Amino acid sequence: DTGSTTGIIREVVYYDETDSTNNEAKRAAERDNAADGTLYITESQTGGRGRRGRNWVSPAGSGIWMSLLLRPDIAPVNASMLTIVAAMAVQEAIHTVLKEDGHDAECRIKWPNDIVLNKKKVCGILTEMSAEMDYIHYVVIGMGINVNTTEFDDSIKATASSLYLETGDHLKRSRIVAAFSESFAKYYDTFVKTQNLAGLKEDYNSMLVNKGGDVKAIYADKEIVGKAIGINDEGELIIKTDEGEKIIRTGEVSVRGL
Ligand code: BTN
Repeated sequence: DTGSTTGIIREVVYYDETDSTNNEAKRAAERDNAADGTLYITESQTGGRGRRGRNWVSPAGSGIWMSLLLRPDIAPVNASMLTIVAAMAVQEAIHTVLKEDGHDAECRIKWPNDIVLNKKKVCGILTEMSAEMDYIHYVVIGMGINVNTTEFDDSIKATASSLYLETGDHLKRSRIVAAFSESFAKYYDTFVKTQNLAGLKEDYNSMLVNKGGDVKAIYADKEIVGKAIGINDEGELIIKTDEGEKIIRTGEVSVRGL
């Protein structure tokens, strides 16, 4: 054992155009039994999908539209944490490339898994899974990184941006994909060993935008106001309020100020 992490991405499948790389990965997983570690990447998407049934505008040449197919040997209940692992890798990849080029714009994670630059969203992640009660057939982690994007869907216009709009530079997409691949391998390796975020939460919390700052969360129809402490081993957000610490689960909440 050399102690080094092995590559997770073993094959890259490239398209000029497709409906959605998430769809492409799911079709390949179901039809062709495509292998763990296949990355589907396209120049443009005609039916890019965001969370909550939204569109994801994905014009040619403007971004990184990619989906990673994984067949992890983990319990299905733990699979949603993979989105957090991917967010860490995207954050680190963008951070690395920006630093190399001398930009000091701060790239951060907005809990749970949006990537923001100057507090504007530059990457979203949509994870989908096919599983039985105790067995995962496959997980697809779809990532949309706005590299040179200048047009956005109305629903996100006010809060979205791109690396180009925030830095004034056209960054090479392949550099970001390469950096992502390296970072993801490292974080994924740590995650699958414990199937939780115990070994990653410190790093994750240091990537959070507005850590320790005031946040307001709507959770189960109640408003929770406090300071964001960071995530726990399960990826839930801990908010310190006047009545003590509250724990917020992914997917059931909208958080402001983070
Ligand atoms: C979000 O709403 O924040 C998630 C956006 C995810 C977009 C990416 S682009 C590549 C992959 N294919 C899709 O159709 N969606 C994801």
